[in-house]
Amino acid sequence: MKRMEMVLSGETVLTGITTSGTPHIGNYVGAIRPSVAASEAVKAKFFFFLADYHSLIKSRDPAQMAISTLEIASSWLAAGLDPDRVVLYRQSDIPEILELTWLLTCLTSKGLMNRAHAYKAAVAANELSRGKDPEKGITMGLFCYPILMAADILMFNANKIPVGSDQKQHVEMARDIAGSFNHQFGQTFVLPEPFISDNASMLPGLDGRKMSKSYGNTISLFAPEKNLRKSIMKIKTNSQEPGEPKDPESSSLFSIYCAFATGSETEAMRQRYVDGIGWGEMKDCVFRYLNDHLKVAREEYNRLVAAPDYVEDVLRKGADKARAVSGPFMDQIRSNVGLKVLG
Ligand code: TRP
Repeated sequence: MKRMEMVLSGETVLTGITTSGTPHIGNYVGAIRPSVAASEAVKAKFFFFLADYHSLIKSRDPAQMAISTLEIASSWLAAGLDPDRVVLYRQSDIPEILELTWLLTCLTSKGLMNRAHAYKAAVAANELSRGKDPEKGITMGLFCYPILMAADILMFNANKIPVGSDQKQHVEMARDIAGSFNHQFGQTFVLPEPFISDNASMLPGLDGRKMSKSYGNTISLFAPEKNLRKSIMKIKTNSQEPGEPKDPESSSLFSIYCAFATGSETEAMRQRYVDGIGWGEMKDCVFRYLNDHLKVAREEYNRLVAAPDYVEDVLRKGADKARAVSGPFMDQIRSNVGLKVLG
């Protein structure tokens, strides 16, 4: 928290959450919890938004899109995000973002987009399956996605962008694009920089690899108690018997426990590993700890998901606050490029 306070204090902080899927405990530990804590502790301007235009790049399922937006907004609110302290909005409620996207598209070189990780990964995957067109299934949405992300950031003159390390390149591209815009049309945008969260907050999943939707190894954040227990029982361990001393550092169960427990509880648990706690008993500890920790927020989450009108209202109010910034700034940007009233 100290580092976060030092780096973010007085700044404009912005981050987007792609509305795909239901949040898992890795998202909670890596993004939701630190963001909520920062918004309470740090004096800065915070913009948090649901990146629904981004999720449209992959999703072709309208019903799923709507549910995901509701679930993700509800998760952040249930985890304690106070919409009065931050600007919480839905990307598609801010038409200026798309308008800016076009202006930026016109001055972004295609070569820059050729180098974007997401696009390169898609080409590489196609090349692995021989005989296939390397561009197969790649839409212009996927190809140009860093420009949309640049517009998200530049629209609010945000300078600190908390992202996972996989998104670092995109923030650097936003910075390049802002620089070339300023060069062509005069000082307009603040240059953003990534704020990478510590690796310590990366959680292992059920199979020991990083918890990630794409690996299918996640533990859903607000799943009913029964499902939470079931997931935790599936976490991979080794064949050591109860009573044998165990290594906490290589244990996913231990890492997950630590992500929630206090420092002294963590130390006590480390000792229990040395004393040979059995895997069954440890799974039970992790389940009970997480369940207690998440219970109140889970009840709030269930209430919110059952009250979409309320969540909609929160997002509309957030959009009003965001547009109070993006509207006048877009007028300025339009005028800078020469789209202006004649005479
Ligand atoms: N692309 C980001 C991700 O996949 C989400 C995102 C969209 C974002 N727009 C953003 C993050 C702007 C930071 C700033 O995680």
